[in-house]
Amino acid sequence: MNHIIAPSVLSADFANLERDITMINQSEADWFHIDIMDGVFVPNISFGFPVLHAINKHASKPLDVHLMIVDPDRYLEEFKNAGAANITVHYEACTHLHRTLSAIKDLGCRAGVAINPHTLVNVLEDIITEVDLVCLMSVNPGFGGQKFIENTYSKIRALKALAAGRNDNLLIEIDGGVGSQNALTLLKAGANVLVAGNAVFAAANPLLAISELKQLNSDILTA
Ligand code: DX5
Ligand code: ZN
Repeated sequence: MNHIIAPSVLSADFANLERDITMINQSEADWFHIDIMDGVFVPNISFGFPVLHAINKHASKPLDVHLMIVDPDRYLEEFKNAGAANITVHYEACTHLHRTLSAIKDLGCRAGVAINPHTLVNVLEDIITEVDLVCLMSVNPGFGGQKFIENTYSKIRALKALAAGRNDNLLIEIDGGVGSQNALTLLKAGANVLVAGNAVFAAANPLLAISELKQLNSDILTA
């Protein structure tokens, strides 16, 4: 499949949100990545429903909602109603992950699970057939613009092996520190969704930065 590019709105200019959303609409990006942080699960607070509704009003592409919050079950329906196409919860925040993922699917959304850098891919062994997307955190969640954790490559390979024959359509999303310096290597390792915040919004030409990520071809063999 062609890989998916999901610019992270966390790095947008919130005083010019409509402008930045329009830029993503006009770009080659596939999804909007939306980071929701509660100041409890992660040491930062991002934004909530009023902002999400405002984004949804202008966005013409699916909203990929990444919940860095405790007890996400309380808000799943509200996120669906605010326009979420994908809802990703954290493994570390869900006591009853199977129930949570079922509830997301019952709402008609893609069900995703994110794991922190220290969490073993193997913990997903008994849930892998139930998920549409696994988000591998390649930074400690909470902030944009952090340094990519190199161990992510081996996690991608471990996840590919875990999903093989059981969930071959699995979306493998990499979130944190992704940019032109590592995107192709990530795709070659088996990632098929790349989130990019800083690499897009701190670029001199965000449209070009998105295009360069989208046009990478992981089928081309390097010598
Ligand atoms: C981090 C968020 C990421 C973040 C990525 O907690 O989940 O989505 O916005 O930003 P960059 O690409 O700048 O690391
Ligand atoms: Zn995210």
